[in-house]
Amino acid sequence: MALVSTKEMFEKAYNGGYAVGAFNVNNMEIVQGITDAAAELKSPVILQASAGARKYANSIYLVKLVEAAVALHPEIPIALHLDHGADFDVCKDCIDSGFTSVMIDGSSKPFDENVELSKRVADYAHEHGVVVEAELGTLAGVEDDVNVAAESAQYTDPDQVVEFVERTGVDSLAIAIGTSHGAYKFKPGTNPHIRLDILEEISKKLPGFPIVLHGSSSVPQEYVKIINANGGALQDAIGIPEDQLREAAKRAVCKINIDSDLRLGMTAGIREHFMAHPEHFDPRQYIGDGRKYVKDIVHGKIINVLGSENKA
Ligand code: G3H
Ligand code: 13P
Ligand code: ZN
Repeated sequence: MALVSTKEMFEKAYNGGYAVGAFNVNNMEIVQGITDAAAELKSPVILQASAGARKYANSIYLVKLVEAAVALHPEIPIALHLDHGADFDVCKDCIDSGFTSVMIDGSSKPFDENVELSKRVADYAHEHGVVVEAELGTLAGVEDDVNVAAESAQYTDPDQVVEFVERTGVDSLAIAIGTSHGAYKFKPGTNPHIRLDILEEISKKLPGFPIVLHGSSSVPQEYVKIINANGGALQDAIGIPEDQLREAAKRAVCKINIDSDLRLGMTAGIREHFMAHPEHFDPRQYIGDGRKYVKDIVHGKIINVLGSENKA
């Protein structure tokens, strides 16, 4: 199977009551860890690259790494998506260079500007067979180097979604219902809850339309503990409870974005390796352990959060 767009993936996910995981990729071992887990569980998967990832690795390496994963795992559908595209030019660059899906993130702009920008990207993308995700509402946390303070974050207004989708022609919509970016989402002892009621209201207004959740890491405490037991100094924090994400995945949410949890896994594997083997200096040994935890985490997400196993 060649690299696919998310169109058919989302149709199946919507009708089947599950979601497809969108995992951020920055290097070869992360691509391998994610796709090995997805292939083992016969799950579709979205690999997404942020502006930071494209700058770090050089976009062409990421495209080629993902193409390699597609060649090695022809049995599962894999999409390559631009995460948080900031402007038309970055989206165009990705559309022209092999991405099958792009996000235009105009969520910090006034409504009409967000509409205008998202429509311009959607028009260009559709001419080239690429699908587009846009965002309405603002998540707290870090979005592509922009720190969005909790007080300026706002839930998506259900009364705006129909007009937004109709005027832009986008293929999926990221909404803000209480998730947030990064590994420091909520203080321990608090009771995070995502607003499934707002999701429900939005999906009634947009029947059959795929919804996307960003900021959906759960900050697994076992990995935070491994990091801190092996010389790390992460602050205490908790993420989005996995059972709440599972509920969202059963409804209109077709794509769930996870990055921070993979970072925790990679860091835990490497730190643990160095503490156990201070004499090692072969990157294949310690990055290999990081890759193993990335794979374990994705495995767990497919089973416990997404419900996308055996859906390839
Ligand atoms: O939503 C942001 C993603 O976690 C990507 O983060 O811009 O540091 O690559 P990044
Ligand atoms: P997390 O920081 O919760 O992993 O969110 C990632 C994300 O939304 C990427 O777009
Ligand atoms: Zn995001």
